Amino acid sequence: MGNLPGRGDGPAVNSAYDDPVQILVTGGAGFIGSNFVHHLVANTDAYVTVLDKLTYASSEASLRGLPEDRVRLVVGDIADAAVVEPLVAESDAVVHYAAESHNDNSLSDPAPFVQTNIVGTFVLLEAVRRHDVRFHHVSTDEVYGDLDLDDLKRFTEDTPYQPSSPYSASKAGSDHLVRAWVRSFGVRATISNCSNNYGPWQHVEKFIPRQITEVIEGRRPRVYGDGLNVRDWIHTDDHSSAVWAILSHGRIGETYLIGADGEKSNVDVVRAILRHFGRPEDDIEWVTDRAGHDRRYAIESGKLRSELGWEPKYQDFDKGLAATIAWYQENAAWWSPMKHETEAKYAAKGQ
Ligand code: NAD
Ligand code: DAU
Repeated sequence: MGNLPGRGDGPAVNSAYDDPVQILVTGGAGFIGSNFVHHLVANTDAYVTVLDKLTYASSEASLRGLPEDRVRLVVGDIADAAVVEPLVAESDAVVHYAAESHNDNSLSDPAPFVQTNIVGTFVLLEAVRRHDVRFHHVSTDEVYGDLDLDDLKRFTEDTPYQPSSPYSASKAGSDHLVRAWVRSFGVRATISNCSNNYGPWQHVEKFIPRQITEVIEGRRPRVYGDGLNVRDWIHTDDHSSAVWAILSHGRIGETYLIGADGEKSNVDVVRAILRHFGRPEDDIEWVTDRAGHDRRYAIESGKLRSELGWEPKYQDFDKGLAATIAWYQENAAWWSPMKHETEAKYAAKGQ
């Protein structure tokens, strides 16, 4: 492949790649996976197969406009070995995004989280083991549990696992499977644990798009508990460039934390959204807290930056947020159909 960035000039580049690279992206019709597919098309010569079950969280529209001769969508379940096997066999690499991704849903119905996030990852690992295919596992900082608000610490690759929710426990389980398959079977895998993403195409169940669309529809943003919980925000474009850096340059068997120094309390994010719309900053609906709500996430991404030379492009959260708000204003036709059902689910829980 012609333009693997830095090929040959960094440590442990995946020299197994030959032209052209065929990459299987699981969950590639979701918020972050689809962004990565666009990143691949724009920055590499790779051919991409998206394997996606097209759950409620997916959006085929997020893949629109991509060249048909380079990107194809296969609708199927990562936990179905018969579907996975031939797709992995024809691939040079698998980048694994597919997951049930929403904490609140994992509290009301954990079963699909165990099935997709743990069993699905197991099925993929068995296939890449059989065919000796490079594997990158996309995971979350939530596997480390949470930090206190007054703690100066941030998560590092050495922080012990202590997941709080069924979602984060299922992602932790999948990370452990990947490590075991590397050590026991020599699978050529890397893992990344990223902080909270924001940007276009994010489902309106998630915090930032929910609040933006609440305000657009003339209601108040809805904040859980005391609103002081902190998340470490990163634009999804920056997540994609980091995953590509790891896939193309990362050392096999290693874990890389991905973060862009974007710590903000939830109430500060909501105030920024309200300011953007010229609404009073205290125009907030305080709602029932999430059970087991993690207090603070914060990422120390020094390893990724120093080893692979990665830097985020979005250093200014307010600018990234303004662009995201503009996108939701322009794309009401995309999110409106899912908004009503999403709000009905929240209303039933007093949120
Ligand atoms: P998402 O919910 O927007 O998308 C998930 C995609 O996976 C959807 O397209 C869905 O149809 C697909 N999928 C679900 N179950 C499947 C199955 N059994 N087989 C095939 N496809 C299936 O999620 P997202 O926010 O884009 O997250 C993608 C990945 O990134 C997840 O692994 C998540 O844990 C991880 N992650 C997310 C964030 C974040 O802030 N959203 C941060 C760090 C890591
Ligand atoms: O840290 C990475 C994780 O970030 C990913 O692994 C998950 O897939 C992703 O969903 C996200 O998890 P969070 O639970 O942090 O994100 P969520 O958008 O659900 O909530 C962000 C914060 O906002 C959290 O503290 C809960 C709060 N919240 C959320 C909603 C939906 C509110 O206060 N009000 C809301 O309406």
